[in-house]
Amino acid sequence: MAQDVRGVIAPGKNEPVRIETVVVPDPGPGEAVVQVQACGVCHTDLHYKEGGISDDFPFLLGHEAAGIVESVGEGVQDIVPGDFVVLNWRAVCGQCRACLRGRPWYCFNTHNARQKMTLTDGTELSPALGIGAFAEKTLVAAGQCTKVDPAVSPAVAGLLGCGVMAGLGAAINTGNVGRGDSVAVIGCGGVGDAAIAGSRLAGAAKIIAVDIDDRKLTTAEKLGATHTVNSRETDPVEAIRELTGGFGADVVIEAVGRPDTYEQAFYARDLAGTVVLVGVPTPEMKLDLPLLDVFGRGGALKSSWYGDCLPSRDFPMLIDLHLQGRLDLGAFVSETIGLDEVEAAFERMRHGDVLRSVVVL
Ligand code: APR
Ligand code: ZN
Ligand code: ZN
Repeated sequence: MAQDVRGVIAPGKNEPVRIETVVVPDPGPGEAVVQVQACGVCHTDLHYKEGGISDDFPFLLGHEAAGIVESVGEGVQDIVPGDFVVLNWRAVCGQCRACLRGRPWYCFNTHNARQKMTLTDGTELSPALGIGAFAEKTLVAAGQCTKVDPAVSPAVAGLLGCGVMAGLGAAINTGNVGRGDSVAVIGCGGVGDAAIAGSRLAGAAKIIAVDIDDRKLTTAEKLGATHTVNSRETDPVEAIRELTGGFGADVVIEAVGRPDTYEQAFYARDLAGTVVLVGVPTPEMKLDLPLLDVFGRGGALKSSWYGDCLPSRDFPMLIDLHLQGRLDLGAFVSETIGLDEVEAAFERMRHGDVLRSVVVL
């Protein structure tokens, strides 16, 4: 029996979000219905609302979520009703070229639920990143659910579903930060701060936080930054070189998504270092670099989507580390809010007042 639940809908481009009744069908083959307990507010939700991602309005927003599996469809084996799960937007197929070559984080056939959730008049909803979890319940592909230790609070667990995983993974997966490395993180919002926490976890010796906002640098220090640079006042490339004996950082993580910060990241790395690009630029942005510099600097330039994570490998591990007190995921939850406060949370996000607002149901 399909069920009616409350959900946060983006009805049209730049229109305010509103709460509507969402019809959630019973799970079909390979699908699951999850009772959502918490869902973080991410920039991508705002981008959906602004029409920057797709025109398929109306959207059911929310995609950084954790909850309890309520029911599963035919053929679902890895999860059963009652399991506590974190949702992911990258359920890999296991069969494409990327999967077969051992790089499933590049899988091009990611799974979502086949059935659609709708409004009560039958209008089909587009769930944000195939999840749609600003709702009491949501329908997803079973592969989008990863079982984790239920001892963790849902608000904390859900963070791994997107931004915090992107930052942690940029450091530990893409950047392969190792013991003794020097790391510079440019941009210390939720993603950059997670990259800082990931670098500390990986044993980095020096972690240099760069931002234009002193408030952000204070938080970055709490999460593990050993040095801070306000790049409004100080040339960050010079400062990073100075702090690394003139060499540049072994790993530079860019978590802003602008041409000037991409360029800083390019020049702030050690000649044999790695640049990890996490910040998402807009289509018109361009970088103009002397080819001699591109040629003359070795190392690697990598981009990182979703922290190159494998949810089934990384989510349980990171939650275990949090429960052991070795990774403070709780520091990323700035506030918990209700479903009706998403629009206000977008406003606070725009002003840089929060790392994460998390809707708790
Ligand atoms: N130099 C340094 N830091 C900057 C600059 C700049 N020129 N401009 C902005 N920042 C800082 C902001 O002060 C803020 O602390 O970058 C940070 C961006 O943080 P958020 O807006 O909270 O964004 P976040 O969620 O961390 O995502 C960062 O990663 O995954 C991508 O799409 C995401 O592109 C976005 C980026
Ligand atoms: Zn695949
Ligand atoms: Zn997100």
